[in-house]
Amino acid sequence: MNITIRLQRFDPETATPIAIFQEYTIEISEVATVLDAIIKIHEEVDGTVAMRYSCRSSICGSCAMKINGSAALGCKTRLVELAEDGGTITVQPVGNLPTVKDLVADFQPFWDKIRSVNPYLTTSGPEPEFERIASNKSMSNLLTAVNCIMCGCCFSDCTVLEVDPTFMGPAALAKAWRFVEDPRDSTADQRLNMLNNTEGGMWDCTRCMKCVEVCPKEVAPMDRIMEMREAAIQTGNTNTAGYRHTESFYNSVKKNGRLDETRLAIDSAGWTNLPRLLDLAPIGIAAMRKGKLPPLLPHKSEDHKKVQELYESVENDSD
Ligand code: FES
Repeated sequence: MNITIRLQRFDPETATPIAIFQEYTIEISEVATVLDAIIKIHEEVDGTVAMRYSCRSSICGSCAMKINGSAALGCKTRLVELAEDGGTITVQPVGNLPTVKDLVADFQPFWDKIRSVNPYLTTSGPEPEFERIASNKSMSNLLTAVNCIMCGCCFSDCTVLEVDPTFMGPAALAKAWRFVEDPRDSTADQRLNMLNNTEGGMWDCTRCMKCVEVCPKEVAPMDRIMEMREAAIQTGNTNTAGYRHTESFYNSVKKNGRLDETRLAIDSAGWTNLPRLLDLAPIGIAAMRKGKLPPLLPHKSEDHKKVQELYESVENDSD
């Protein structure tokens, strides 16, 4: 088949603020992957194209890139899945990381965040003679996160990291979950406490699902983050804006059948947290000027009784 690869070029010596794309049309087998096409371009058409790869089997995680706008492994993505004969596929470096050259990104910020969650087992008590035994069930539970190959696809497309580089990101939080859930680790409480209270920790995920969508190994980092939130709450870590936000959201919809946005903002900040409440004042004034200020007293929806019934039915089921 003939395929055109529209490849984003970046040379640090001649970099411009505007992304430059170069098109390469090649003839290649129908079973080829995007990575195969880029390697062919590199070997036969333009040796200056830079990319990273190793295993070519979805194992090492080196070939992550944006393909038609979403992060994916180049070696796992078949050309025919994206384009017919004569079609065009756009490839770019992963997002949320600085580009070194063409498709090669600097992963230092990614590794810094992984390191920040202490990604290793921490045990206590006397060393056993052979090994620390864990049940099959507890190990099976870890399989989702253990499958992570650190490709950075989730990091690349994380919509929170795009606006807030302090967020730990999906990969690091999924890695943290892996040790929180490991019965051999003796520091689960400290880990939960740290991730619960640190700025950029578990409560900063906005549940956009993008990390779940792009992860090539079905780690589903967002689900792991939600499980850690639940674990943090169960262990009494409730004095955070994130927990208060969740609780306020739950209660106001239960009571009124709709969200009370004014109350949500104040509850999340904390009624006694004067500096944070003062921080909200300019937002409130700007919203008022634009006619966007939510009502100060909540309006109940017409169907609020039905919403309450739904809540009660779910609450009774989970008892
Ligand atoms: S080259 Fe190893 S995952 Fe693609």
